[in-house]
Amino acid sequence: MRVVFLQPNYPPEMQQYTRGLAEVGVKVYGVGDSHPDSLAPMVKKALSGYLQVPRIMDEDDVVERTSAWLKGVEIDRVLANWEPLVILAAKIRERWGVPGMSVDTVRGFRDKQLMKERVRAAGLRTPRSCRATTKAEIWAAREEMGYPMIVKPIAGAGSADTYRVESDAELEKVLALTAHVSEVSCEEYIEGEEFTYDTICVGGRPIYENCTQYLPKPLEARSHEWISPVVITLKDMSQPHARKGIELGRNVLRALGMGDGFTHMEWFYTKKGEAVFGEIGCRPGGARIVDQMNYTSDIDLFREWARVVCWHAFDADQTRKYNAGIIFKRAKGQGRIQQIVGLNAWKQRWGNWIVEDELLRPGTPRRDWKQTLLSDGHLMCRHPDWDTAKEMCFDAAQNITLYAG
Ligand SMILES: Nc1ncnc2c1ncn2[C@@H]1O[C@H](COP(=O)(O)OP(=O)(O)OP(=O)(O)O)[C@@H](O)[C@H]1O
Ligand SMILES: [Mg+2]
Repeated sequence: MRVVFLQPNYPPEMQQYTRGLAEVGVKVYGVGDSHPDSLAPMVKKALSGYLQVPRIMDEDDVVERTSAWLKGVEIDRVLANWEPLVILAAKIRERWGVPGMSVDTVRGFRDKQLMKERVRAAGLRTPRSCRATTKAEIWAAREEMGYPMIVKPIAGAGSADTYRVESDAELEKVLALTAHVSEVSCEEYIEGEEFTYDTICVGGRPIYENCTQYLPKPLEARSHEWISPVVITLKDMSQPHARKGIELGRNVLRALGMGDGFTHMEWFYTKKGEAVFGEIGCRPGGARIVDQMNYTSDIDLFREWARVVCWHAFDADQTRKYNAGIIFKRAKGQGRIQQIVGLNAWKQRWGNWIVEDELLRPGTPRRDWKQTLLSDGHLMCRHPDWDTAKEMCFDAAQNITLYAG
């Protein structure tokens, strides 16, 4: 079997999917914008061929170049696990007649308004929403949505340019802040806790499922620098709230005509006990969520995903053993990390329940916390008991401090 995988080297987690594909015995052809010399050793080893393109976001150009490069080679799959490239992968599939989701189907996972319309048409609970391209349309949306209202890009990621608006005065400000966004979605604000529902599917049927809880919800985590965002996988997926989300998620996959591969959905659980759809992508979640799922069951989903999309088989034992948590830290001050306080005490307290320490070390320049959820590094830990896992995460969130200067 021969597989084209877009951006095999970047973002960094793509390197793991590239490795996974090679490990299930297929020939992997990479197309990306990284220079061939800069490919990670793991990627070089996994690839049977690599085409560097000058602009990976220029869809027509990439389709042309890739078609010319692989002329006469029979390709069985065209895959992308990075959100900005899922449409491009579908375009190449359509051009070559390779099986997989069509451009129209993938659009249902990419366009936030279209996705909600399709999910709503299936009778599932979504926030009321509308598409707006002008200020007048946004003001009109306010009449319909009321306050609080969410204003966010139609094709956004990483909560960029996403605002909760409470009043006309705030809306006035947000209109200025989002002036560069060509199309926005205006939505009813859903009060509630926020979760993910993640799957690997064959023909839209989940062969693997996962839920995580965001603590706090991403919009809050993205609005206040002092927060150390925590995300924890749910070991027990049979709890009532998880079951509601899973049922919603399965129906959403059907409504959108999911095919094969990863999905990453976000949903809200309201005080009334209702699961409300947030958004969904036909790709894995970022920010290390796949590593968290791996730590939950001691499996390698980078490889199992590859097995599923190539051979429609999942071989690993999915028993959920742990609640796996990640804590993202943001340093106090600007410039380079100077010192880390509280880390040793945390490690002594939790010992072997800690599985990763990737905090930036003294001397490293700070990252822009608005640009990357990874912030100034993260810690990962896990525990079979939910409350203990949460305590461990919050202990790190509250009692470990990075200082920069
Ligand atoms: N209708 C809504 N009601 C309540 N909160 C919302 C709503 N829409 C978005 N949010 C909040 O804003 C966050 C970002 O919105 P959304 O997930 O649609 O954008 P995104 O940029 O794709 O996010 P990311 O890439 O971080 O997942 C959500 O995780 C949620 O916390
Ligand atoms: Mg989101």
